[in-house]
Amino acid sequence: MKYYLKILNLWYMKISIINGPNLNLLGKREPDIYGSTSFEEFFKKIVSAFPDVNFDYYQSNVEGELINQIQNMGDTSDGIILNAAAFTHTSVGIADAVKSVKSKVIEVHISNTFSRESFRHKSFLSPVVDGIIVGFGLDSYRLAVESLIEKNKIKGE
Ligand code: DQA
Repeated sequence: MKYYLKILNLWYMKISIINGPNLNLLGKREPDIYGSTSFEEFFKKIVSAFPDVNFDYYQSNVEGELINQIQNMGDTSDGIILNAAAFTHTSVGIADAVKSVKSKVIEVHISNTFSRESFRHKSFLSPVVDGIIVGFGLDSYRLAVESLIEKNKIKGE
């Protein structure tokens, strides 16, 4: 079915980007680490760079809301790009939500968490996601989109 819809140009891959706490402050927050571009600005660029992908974007500072969003998107999106920010290093609940959904989930981080404080070296998500992209600035998200597109390709395409 997906194959025929793709041939007819009626099928768009759906990718959900979910950002955790303090990522609403990108552009203003510690620009030496996270850069000076807001996520909204970056999101516009990513949407226009991948016209065949149907994107949605969600950000929350609240752990339970992130879990709700993972559950909501987990059966309808072809892939989730998740930057759980500080909750990466603390949240069993978010890890359990990732485990419970069908979509592929890629964990991303803007900074190289392994070159920072030791509490950032532990991720509750890494063992349960399909892939991890760390330390490429906002380009980590683009790399995650590329990898989800690749993973979704129909065999022989
Ligand atoms: C982050 C890294 C986390 O350690 C930190 O708490 C964040 C952002 C990143 O994208 O580099 O808020 O996830």
